[in-house]
Amino acid sequence: MTALGTHVTDSQLINEVETALNQALADHLLAPKLREAMQYAVLGGGKRVRPVMTLRACEAVGGRRQDAIPAAIALEMIHCFSLVHDDLPALDNDDLRRGRPTTHIAHGEALAILAGDALTSVAIEIALDSPVRAADIARELAAATTAMITGQVYDTLAGFPGNLPAAERLRLVHDNKTGALIRCACRMGALCGTPDESRLQALTTYGESMGLMFQVVDDILDETQSTEHLGKAAGKDRDAGKLTYPSIFGIAESHRHVAHLLEIALSALQPLGNAAEPLRLTAHALATRTK
Ligand code: IPE
Ligand code: IPE
Ligand code: MG
Ligand code: MG
Ligand code: MG
Repeated sequence: MTALGTHVTDSQLINEVETALNQALADHLLAPKLREAMQYAVLGGGKRVRPVMTLRACEAVGGRRQDAIPAAIALEMIHCFSLVHDDLPALDNDDLRRGRPTTHIAHGEALAILAGDALTSVAIEIALDSPVRAADIARELAAATTAMITGQVYDTLAGFPGNLPAAERLRLVHDNKTGALIRCACRMGALCGTPDESRLQALTTYGESMGLMFQVVDDILDETQSTEHLGKAAGKDRDAGKLTYPSIFGIAESHRHVAHLLEIALSALQPLGNAAEPLRLTAHALATRTK
């Protein structure tokens, strides 16, 4: 996912994010066992899609990248917490993540639960240290975290409001469990720059479309890729009776939906001109990713 033609490549941004994550986890006052489990959950793998989006969104509205680093790493911590808890026996019960044993397999269930808890609180502390608009950043992050957990409840336990048709239940799961954090990545990045209302709205629309698209692609990959390639168990969603795009619409229609969401995201970026070019490249890369 290298952004060719721009000054800074995605891999440089990933390095900046990982350096800051390392530092934050090393510096925080934590029980040694807890630190080890948190480091295991956060470091050593992951595409870093969300924090890179935060940095790109900040630059797309004329902000300075370093101002968005705390927001970016706080969000990646929330994402990693969501993965640790998603993999627990009570949720998806997975033992492979990012090509290695899940946190509860490596560190035990108690520490996996507690590491997820602490990643949440540490993330909020870091968001509150944002050099710009700290309260807004923390509020965005906390609200998106609540939405993600809401999505996980619908995904795991159903209990949907009213008499929603399957397609609307699916949308409620995906917009919340995955969409909320990706939308938040874009909004926090914009808020760390100097957005006017229309550019904030443009990046919000981009983030919402990318967020849903990301999970549609994840659902497709679960059915079409191998466990070895993904580094996480493939082919589980159908057996587990999950509501997914392929299970409701089929694979071909799911691909058409990805193309449609990509178009919405790209047209939202139009008013931002050249400054949004890295976000366009990210959108294409995420539409065509295979892992
Ligand atoms: C996996 O997210 C969970 C979903 C929301 C589909 P990623 O595919 O971003 O996972 P990592 O961080 O790269 O491992
Ligand atoms: C992940 O959905 C959503 C969150 C972790 C919040 P999945 O359960 O589909 O993610 P994977 O496939 O395990 O990465
Ligand atoms: Mg899940
Ligand atoms: Mg899962
Ligand atoms: Mg999945």
